Amino acid sequence: MTEQGSLQAGNNLDPWYSHYAERAGGLRASEVRALFAVASRPEVVSLAGGMPFVAALPQELVIGAMDRVMREQGAVALQYGSGQGVPELREQILEVMALEGISANADDVVVTTGSQHALELVSKLFLDPGDVVLSEGPSYVTAMVIFKSYQAEVEHVPMDENGLIPEALREHIKRVKAAGKTIKFLYTIPSFHNPAGVTLSWERRVEILQIAKENDILVLEDNPYGLLYFDRPAPDAMRSIEQDGVVYLGTFSKTLAPGFRVGWALAPHAIREKLVLANEAAVLSPSSFSQLVISEYLKTADWKGQINTFRGVYHERKNAMISSLEEYLPELSWTNPNGGFYVWVTLPERLDSKAMLPRAVKELVAYTPGTAFFADGDGHQNMRLSFCYPTPANIRVGIRRLATVIRGELDLLDTFAGTGSLDAARDNRRFSAPPPNIS
Ligand SMILES: Cc1ncc(COP(=O)(O)O)c(C=O)c1O
Repeated sequence: MTEQGSLQAGNNLDPWYSHYAERAGGLRASEVRALFAVASRPEVVSLAGGMPFVAALPQELVIGAMDRVMREQGAVALQYGSGQGVPELREQILEVMALEGISANADDVVVTTGSQHALELVSKLFLDPGDVVLSEGPSYVTAMVIFKSYQAEVEHVPMDENGLIPEALREHIKRVKAAGKTIKFLYTIPSFHNPAGVTLSWERRVEILQIAKENDILVLEDNPYGLLYFDRPAPDAMRSIEQDGVVYLGTFSKTLAPGFRVGWALAPHAIREKLVLANEAAVLSPSSFSQLVISEYLKTADWKGQINTFRGVYHERKNAMISSLEEYLPELSWTNPNGGFYVWVTLPERLDSKAMLPRAVKELVAYTPGTAFFADGDGHQNMRLSFCYPTPANIRVGIRRLATVIRGELDLLDTFAGTGSLDAARDNRRFSAPPPNIS
């Protein structure tokens, strides 16, 4: 069945159903979305989302910057601007990127509406139906939604604790080429990966760029978390090694606040020109107001100190998560990130994180099932836990509840093993369980 066929088959309550473009078939609500609506209730400890802890940013810093912008440049802030972004901010973005070894020209920076929009624009420029995007497996959910909405296929390349495995990348490239398909780019999150939490080693950065060059594959380096390290910085960005074959994406969402919706792409010159045209076609210009406020903030506030503050907050939360996992769930395995927001957990083989989620939400804890991060339905044995938003105390409560859920699920499996009635058992348990302990 084509994407469109499956779309048309799904829902006849929508009178416009048969009118949608084929590519709209790639835009599907996540299967766990409804559950997440429940999971956002205050009594649920959510280890599912990826929301930065913006309360760690003193509001006066932003209010001061907004106030000065409006008094001194109000007419500019309220007006349309350049499709490439405010020149002064593009210069300041160079300073931010220099922290990860990147040297560039402000002329090659395009400001976008969050790095999410840069992902959309790059996809729009490069992807035809049937093209292949290589990406780590697992990978960032909403990037894959975009790739699929351009009717591209996502081919996952495995990782280990040092990130994407170069040998596996070689094999996948060979296989895709042998199948007569076109690889348009490698999408990678080398530092403090979402969702895996791992970081690509320096040696592998060099090797992967070499493989990409040999095979004429563009690298799309997505780096929202690189500056949020704990004990030691991540290796320098891949873009610091190679200029011509890398489109680099950055954002102020995690180092300042996502509400501004300001990110950027740094691209080789020819691609940059097309990105500006695509940006103009999509939004005319990114928000002048947001860009000027961020520019003023960078000029007047101790922004590096603020990033340090965020690091401290997330480091403490990561430690709370790891020590709680060690205490309550020592039989599981997990990644121990040195930065970013996420821990990737591997469950015992017989557990299914997606099937277990309703029970977890009933026990007032939420996580994201591993299946969300694979285009091919893999990941049943994994879950992503985020430590960015809940307090350390709540993280401990959440992991304790998760341990109850996992033990309950394992008990069920033991009890019903071989009887074929596990689903019935799960349902039974779901509805007859005593009220969860909310303490
Ligand atoms: C890997 C990755 N890329 C891109 C984004 C989009 O960020 P934004 O559009 O806020 O810059 C996110 C957000 O969580 C992310 O985790």
